Amino acid sequence: MIFAANFKCNHTPSSIYSYFCEFNTFGFSPSFLAENEIIFFPPFIGLERASELATFATIGAQNAYPAYSGAFSGEVGLAMLESLHIRTILIGHSERRNLLGESQAFCAQKFAFFATHHLRIVYCIGESLATKDKGKQATQDFLASQFEGIDTDYENLIVAYEPIWAIGTGVSATHSDIQEAHSFLRTICKAPLLYGGSVNANNATEILSIPNVDGLLVGSASLKANDFYTITQIKESK
Ligand code: PGA
Repeated sequence: MIFAANFKCNHTPSSIYSYFCEFNTFGFSPSFLAENEIIFFPPFIGLERASELATFATIGAQNAYPAYSGAFSGEVGLAMLESLHIRTILIGHSERRNLLGESQAFCAQKFAFFATHHLRIVYCIGESLATKDKGKQATQDFLASQFEGIDTDYENLIVAYEPIWAIGTGVSATHSDIQEAHSFLRTICKAPLLYGGSVNANNATEILSIPNVDGLLVGSASLKANDFYTITQIKESK
C-alpha cells in the first residue's frame, strides 16, 4: 500500500520539525516498510527539513515548474528539487487546476518534462460535482479527458483519483463511487491507483478494501502526525 500525505499550504519548517520528531517516535518495522510506502508532500519551505528527518519515507514536491531553472519568477525548477534530492512530484491536483488555472495542456507539459527527467509522478485527476451529477458516462469521459497528453504507460506513474466534491469536505466518495471510478481507471493504466478526498482513520479501512485501490492520498487528516500514523497502521482486508 502507498500512504501519501499532502500538507498543501500548511506547516512551517518549525512545525514540520515537530511533526517528524513525533512521527519518528512511532517507528515502522522493516517488514512494514518492505510492503508499504509512505510519501509526504510538504510545502517547498519544508522539503529540506522533511528530507532530513523522515528517512523512512519518500519526500515529494507538491508542484514545480517544467524547467530546470530560468526566468520564472515565483516558481521552483528541477535544479532546486535535485539539490534536495527530491525525485517525486504531484501533478494535476484539482486545487492547482482550479485555483491556479492549470490547464490540461499545462499539466501534460509538466508531466512530459518531469517524466523525461525520470521523476516519480503522482498524477491527480477527479471530477466536479456538476460532472458527477451528469452520470457515469459523463464522469468517465471527463476522467479520460484528464489523461490527454499523458503517457499512461510511464513506468514511474502513480495515479490519484480525487473527486473534487470529496476534497476537504469531510465526506469521502462512497464505496461504490470509488469502486466504479477505480475499475474504470484500471482500464486506462496499470499504475498504482490512490484514492483521495476526505480520507481519515474512520473510513480508511473500508476504502483500502475496495478492489483497485492501491493506497491513499490524505490531506487534512495528514496534518497531525498521530492521525496520519493511525491511517498507515490500518490493515487492508481485500
Ligand atoms: P483531503 O485532501 O484529505 O483534505 O480531502 C485530499 C487532497 O486534496 O489530496
